[in-house]
Amino acid sequence: MDFALVTGASGGLGEHYARYLARRGNNLIIAARSAERLGELAEELATAHGVRVEPVAVDLATAEGREQLVARAAELGHVHTLVNNAGFATVGEFADVDPARMADEITLNCVTLTLLTRALLPAMIDRRAGAVINIASTAAYQPIPTMAVYAATKAYVLSLTEALWSELRGSGVRAIAVCPGPTETGFFAAAGDDSLMSRRRTPEQVVQSTFRALHRGAPSVIDGAANSIMANLAKRLPSRLVLPVSQRVIRY
Ligand SMILES: NC(=O)c1ccc[n+]([C@@H]2O[C@H](COP(=O)([O-])OP(=O)(O)OC[C@H]3O[C@@H](n4cnc5c(N)ncnc54)[C@H](OP(=O)(O)O)[C@@H]3O)[C@@H](O)[C@H]2O)c1
Repeated sequence: MDFALVTGASGGLGEHYARYLARRGNNLIIAARSAERLGELAEELATAHGVRVEPVAVDLATAEGREQLVARAAELGHVHTLVNNAGFATVGEFADVDPARMADEITLNCVTLTLLTRALLPAMIDRRAGAVINIASTAAYQPIPTMAVYAATKAYVLSLTEALWSELRGSGVRAIAVCPGPTETGFFAAAGDDSLMSRRRTPEQVVQSTFRALHRGAPSVIDGAANSIMANLAKRLPSRLVLPVSQRVIRY
């Protein structure tokens, strides 16, 4: 049986990717740590759309969790679409952040995303069909003081995914990096300050931007015109100018 796999599907953007894919008739594997929430969502989507939805409760900041998910996916069948969405940020001065949390952030946002892609991509290439959707961020476009590790992880995701997009040309498999700006999910609360960046877009808008850009074959997409202008400006200006603005902007 064929599946789409969505990580971080117990809430926020991942839940909306799962809802979108189920509505379009895809069987799903949904992964996150919150077993109960995943179970409820699986039941709801399976009943509403007549698809199979397999919840897999794992901590993807650990090698064991990642390996468990890959093994379960192999047992279930073939993954044709991978949405590497699970991720988190930390707000705080670099020297004050708990090093264990930093390590988890880098593992989840970068290592897990890379190794899940490495595990599932060869079968997509063999079938000459599939998609890898990696959730980066507009944070990928400039360093962010007080979210330094997070912005660096998302720069990694954008770079990795655009390189992969190029390697995959002509293979029948697509890769895309999705760069949302501030979006209304549990993200800022989980990062430690829900008052930050209060002008937010909706998860539905991000999901729409994702599939539109995937279908036109883009290597990456920034969700929302204003986010796109800001990110492209930041990329072109010297760091000395961008850094003080970047440090202030996250307070609004
Ligand atoms: N919201 C924004 O403003 C924004 C902007 C740009 C990019 N993004 C990116 O969008 C992605 C989704 O974030 P979101 O906004 O939807 O945030 P969210 O509401 O906090 O959701 C994060 C999801 O990741 C899961 N997750 C967190 N740690 C995990 C772990 N160790 N193992 C497995 N699953 C884990 C969470 O589930 P459990 O807690 O159940 O594990 C949850 O389902 C992230 O990669 C984030 O960096 C978000």
